[in-house]
Parts: sequence; structure tokens; C-alpha cells
Amino acid sequence: MAKNEKIPENTLFKDIVSHAKEYGFVFQSSEIYDGLQAVYDYGPFGSELKKNIKELWWNTMTRFNDDIVGLDSAIFMHPDTWKASGHIDSFNDPMIDNKDSKKRYRADVLLEEKAALYEKAGDLEKSAALLKKMGQLLEAEDLNAVRELIVAEEIVCPVSGTANWTEVRQFNLMFSTQIGSLAEDSNKVYLRPETAQGIFVNFLNVQKSARMKIPFGIAQIGKAFRNEIVARQFIFRMREFEQMEMQFFVRPGEELEWYAKWRDMRMQWHKALGIPENKLRFHDHDKLAHYANAAVDVEFEFPFGFKEVEGIHSRTDFDLRSHQEVSKKKIQYFDPEVNKNYIPYVVETSVGCDRLFLMLLCNAYTEETSGEEENQKTRIYLKFHPALAPVKAAILPLTKKDGLPEKGQEIYKKLKRNFNVIYEEAASIGKRYTRQDLIGTPYCIAIDHQTLEDNTVTIRHRDSTSQERINADALEEFLHKECSFNQIFDQLD
Ligand code: GAP
Repeated sequence: MAKNEKIPENTLFKDIVSHAKEYGFVFQSSEIYDGLQAVYDYGPFGSELKKNIKELWWNTMTRFNDDIVGLDSAIFMHPDTWKASGHIDSFNDPMIDNKDSKKRYRADVLLEEKAALYEKAGDLEKSAALLKKMGQLLEAEDLNAVRELIVAEEIVCPVSGTANWTEVRQFNLMFSTQIGSLAEDSNKVYLRPETAQGIFVNFLNVQKSARMKIPFGIAQIGKAFRNEIVARQFIFRMREFEQMEMQFFVRPGEELEWYAKWRDMRMQWHKALGIPENKLRFHDHDKLAHYANAAVDVEFEFPFGFKEVEGIHSRTDFDLRSHQEVSKKKIQYFDPEVNKNYIPYVVETSVGCDRLFLMLLCNAYTEETSGEEENQKTRIYLKFHPALAPVKAAILPLTKKDGLPEKGQEIYKKLKRNFNVIYEEAASIGKRYTRQDLIGTPYCIAIDHQTLEDNTVTIRHRDSTSQERINADALEEFLHKECSFNQIFDQLD
């Protein structure tokens, strides 16, 4: 394969998933007990990458923007929260079981996959008609007709190969448990399915304590839980995941202007992470949720197609109004500029940290083959943006003698105070470079005999493999400049 030629997509995703495990990014949860489906753990390099993603998002929201403050609300909330938000009544997916294989599927996903097949075969009209029909039936909650449509489309279970389907039922995605020692219904609490409600119920606490004036935003990072029926595609759809959500509170009537601003700002942010423009797109929602008056997804082209990474929604005053009604506590803002009390409108940006992680991993994974046909070599590296890379630099003495390790240790000890750096002296320098490429370290710093003479080191750049010599005393400044979030912020101004 020529340099940078596209790897076939199906094998590409498998390669990325096994790379993530082998090099300490993502492990299946409880693997020694054969794993827990759709739950994952992050390894030494994965946890560093995830921490960097969250810090970048947090700093973008709360430092880069003067009008956004942070919050860290609890996972458990009063059960009435979920009545007010509509999650108890309607946070459902339509499910269907195959009686022969006993496998469970999302009815809408089966139909969407059939529509994708029509599209692939070039029959765009048939594909669109099927999606339209499905949308109408789901909106009318006509689950019998959804089943009939699955049968009419001759959709069979991929495991049993039969169309021996149960009826379609609604399945609520919230996990519940009991608070306290009594297993009574009144003690029932839910694991939050989104972090946003913690922001809504704290609207007045935050606004008053931080003396915020509308328009302003509240940002939060935290775990969310959904009992997904179809849990597939690695960390794309998980049962326990992390969200990074921001609710921007605005004057009624100004929400669509803010919605357009946030939609563009969020797309610019994804591009600033180093994601090529042609791998990102907007997808406007055809069917709006009952509380929204505009909604769009930012989609990334994963090896399995364009899929949602982030949602931007204009949520009207639905949530605050419902909480006001259910709690019977006034949730209003007095706007001195217009001399009026009102319930603010909300524009939400909601991105999954794990999904962003998968996007960055897929985008970073690079296989380059070079050389003559009979003597080809493949180099694999992860081209993470230096500001997000789990390890910023590796300090590598050329040999284990002549005082090179001591000099390397001296440099390492200085740098590790401010950066996540690695010191390694075992194996050949080539093998050590390869290892750093595989975890995406942007810079390798080699210590050689010249270092002892003039205090200069070689910096090897991961993507180009080019090398330059700089003074060891300038390393800290070099890493500060190259690995700083400013590299990303400069593109947002
Ligand atoms: N508060 C709005 C909200 O929760 P959503 O579209 O359901 O909206 C927002 O979720 C984002 O959360 C998605 O764009 C995705 O990145 C992430 N997300 C949702 N469900 C997920 C899951 N099961 N696993 C991983 N990430 C998920």
C-alpha cells in the first residue's frame, strides 16, 4: 500500500480497537470475568488522554469564555427531577426480540440499517420512504405497525436468520436503585441519564452565588448512565459514560441567535483539535424533540460511517418551566435591562467525552507503508494534537553508559514537574522511537555524546520523523509552546 493510502474500513476499526487495548488506552471492564457488555476501563495512556480532553473542554468553556461558570452536581437526584424532565415517561427505545436467537434489538435501528442497505444499493427514494414511514409510526407510538413494517421489509435476525419476532415494546433506558436500606418504591432513585438536569435544578443557586447576568452559561463534566439496548461499536455507545454539557441561559426570543453562534463555535473547536474539515459535518434534526425549537448534531466520519459526536439544542424554557411546575418553586430571573421577570431560554451543547476520545483515536491512528514491494515497512503512529497527547515527550539516552543516563535523568527530573514525560533507556533507540509512536508521543528527546559536550539534544518529531538539535535548557519552553492549549485557543479567537 502506498504512503497514506486508505486502509479498508472494516479491518481499520478492528485494528484501532486492538491497538487501544494493546497499548494501554481502553480495556473491557471486568475482562477476567469475561467482561461486562458496553462498559469499559481506561488504561495508563487512555486515562491521560481522557484527562486532557476534559481539561481542554473545561478550560474552553470556563476560562476562554468569561460568561460561563462550572458546576459539579451529584449523580443521584430527587426522583421528581426525572418526572419533570420527561425521562420517566418518555426516555424509551423501541425494542424487539427474536424468539429463536433470544437476541434483543432496537426496532428503529433494524429499520435504519435496512434503509442504509437501500441507500448503498443506490435506491435513495426507497431508503427515504422507509425512514419517513418509520418516523411517522414511532411518533404515533404505533408499535404494532412498527413490527409489521419490520416483517414486511423481510428483516431477519442476523444470528438466527429468522423473522420470528416478538411484539415491539418500549424500554426505558434509565437505571434505578434504592437509596437507604428499605427496598420500597418511595426510595427509588435513578442514575442520571444526562448531566444537564443537575444544571437546571441549580440554575438559581449558581446565578445568585456567582452573580451571573443573562446571557450566561453553566458547564459540567460528569458520568451518565443509560441501559442501552444496542451496545456496539466499542466506546461509541456505552452504558456508563461521561458527558461534557453546557447550558447557556438567554433572554426569550434571543435563543435562535445564540443557537447559531454555539453551533458554529463548537464546529470550530472540533476542527481546532486537528480533525480535517472533510471528516466533520452538521446533521440537522428532521424531527425535533417536544422541548426543542432547533437541534443539530456534529458528526464525525468514524470507520463505520458518519455518526454523532455532539448535539447542540435550543431547548426553549421547557426544563426550567417543568422544574418550576413540579417543584412548585419559582425559577425566574429578574432582568434589570428590560425590567422584567422571566424563565430563561436555554441553548445546550452536549458532547460525550468517550465519543470524543474515540473520534480522536480514530483520527490519530495512522498506518504508513513505504519501500519497494518485496521490502515494505509499515509504521503505525497516533498523530494526536500535542496538547492532547497522553505523553508529551520521551527522554532517551542513546546508550546506557558514558554518563548519558545521568544526563537524561537530569533533564527528565526537570521536565516531569510540568509535563507527563517518560524516561527510557532499554532497547535500541529505533525500538524506543517505535514504542513512542504507538502511544502517540509527539517528541522524542535523544541524549548523545554531543549533549555532554555542548548541552544540546536531538528532538525527533513524531509525524515527520524529522530531527532538530536544540539546547537542553530550551526544552521546557519548547514543550510549553508546542503542547499548550494555546495552540488550540489561538484557532478559536
Ligand atoms: N442533554 C442532552 C443529551 O444528553 P444526547 O444526544 O442524548 O443529549 C449527548 O447525548 C451526547 O452524549 C451525544 O452526542 C454523545 O456524544 C454522548 N452519548 C450519549 N449516549 C451515549 C452512550 N450511550 N455512550 C457514549 N456516549 C453517549
